[in-house]
Amino acid sequence: MTTRIFSGMRPSGKLHLGNYLGAIKNWIALQDAPDTATCIFAAVDLHAITTPYDPATFQKNINDVLLDYLAAGVDPKRSLLIRQSRVPQHAELMWLLSTITPVGWLERLPNYREKLTQVAEMTPSFGFSGSVPPGKDVMQHAREQASTILDKKSYQNNLSLLAYPVLMAADILLYKADLVPVGDDQLPHIELTNEVGSKFNHLFGETFPNVRPFVAPGARIMSLQDPTKKMSKTGDDGIALTDSPDEIRGKIKRATTDSGREIMFNETDKPGISNLLTIFSTLSGAAIDKLERDYAGKSYGDFKADLAEVVVGFLEPFQRRRAEFAADPATLAHILTESEEKARIVAAEHLAEIHQKMGLR
Ligand code: TYM
Repeated sequence: MTTRIFSGMRPSGKLHLGNYLGAIKNWIALQDAPDTATCIFAAVDLHAITTPYDPATFQKNINDVLLDYLAAGVDPKRSLLIRQSRVPQHAELMWLLSTITPVGWLERLPNYREKLTQVAEMTPSFGFSGSVPPGKDVMQHAREQASTILDKKSYQNNLSLLAYPVLMAADILLYKADLVPVGDDQLPHIELTNEVGSKFNHLFGETFPNVRPFVAPGARIMSLQDPTKKMSKTGDDGIALTDSPDEIRGKIKRATTDSGREIMFNETDKPGISNLLTIFSTLSGAAIDKLERDYAGKSYGDFKADLAEVVVGFLEPFQRRRAEFAADPATLAHILTESEEKARIVAAEHLAEIHQKMGLR
């Protein structure tokens, strides 16, 4: 049986170790698997605009995410690399699927409830940025900048926050993908995708496959400051893939650890050290119980110092590759043009079938 893979990330901040370990690492492994037929990896820009963002820097954010994908090893010979909004069929299929998605299915989703609270509490993470151009009045510049920052009040409970998972279902079903490598926070969305897909099949005839999530160790990397919360793109609680060696060493040194002295995996009693053990193990390939044995009798300080070098050692070649791709924008532009063209062909073919089945043609 061949596998069709789709996954994506919101370009709404710097990607971090959680994004890499929870998702991109598995994208790379699956891209090389023998039964993989197609892989599509997207910068989901239409999802990113559902929360406050800065239009002036948005294209740069999208570009940054795509550079991270390439530097991590997404291979454009084997995978398509796309910007969601450049394949307009995503948005169209979302509308079609929304006609069979009860609002109740969306309202109960934990991610929606979480986002509602986050957006309500959010102060935009982008603010007055950049230096004042020569000859320009500071206040005038500040006012112009402020007007590009969208008022957070306009984001409090928009339709798109609720409809978000329908667009995600459309992303996946548009390509009839059957395997979606993600972190475990996305599992309710995959479940919804299957509910919507099977409802469509029931109403209009067999069209969409059952979608399986692909989740591996590292599917939930926690914040370094508060290990009871997920590492996230906003805030300074994570290690960005582009952090410098000194920033990484500092962040790991300051990471919250637990009472006691033992280096032991126990998520309930020792969430801090367990999270660090997961990061160490998934990046180095060493099993957690081996790490526990290796560090028996050693201090948190020794363990953190070694972990910092593992992270720095992993990110150094990543950042070198990233800098090479960043210095060659024509290559990325070419990859995107080719990938998006191929994606649109598959998308148009599947959408034509869906139109037919729904009686729109
Ligand atoms: P996003 O952008 O929040 O996160 C991108 C991917 O990274 C995973 N992830 C984590 N994994 C482990 N530990 C963490 N702390 C952590 N934080 C994030 C996420 O689980 C995700 O796999 N809705 C999606 C984007 C999306 C999508 C799709 C994904 C849109 N359409 C279709 C798959 C298929 C999202 O917001 O991911």
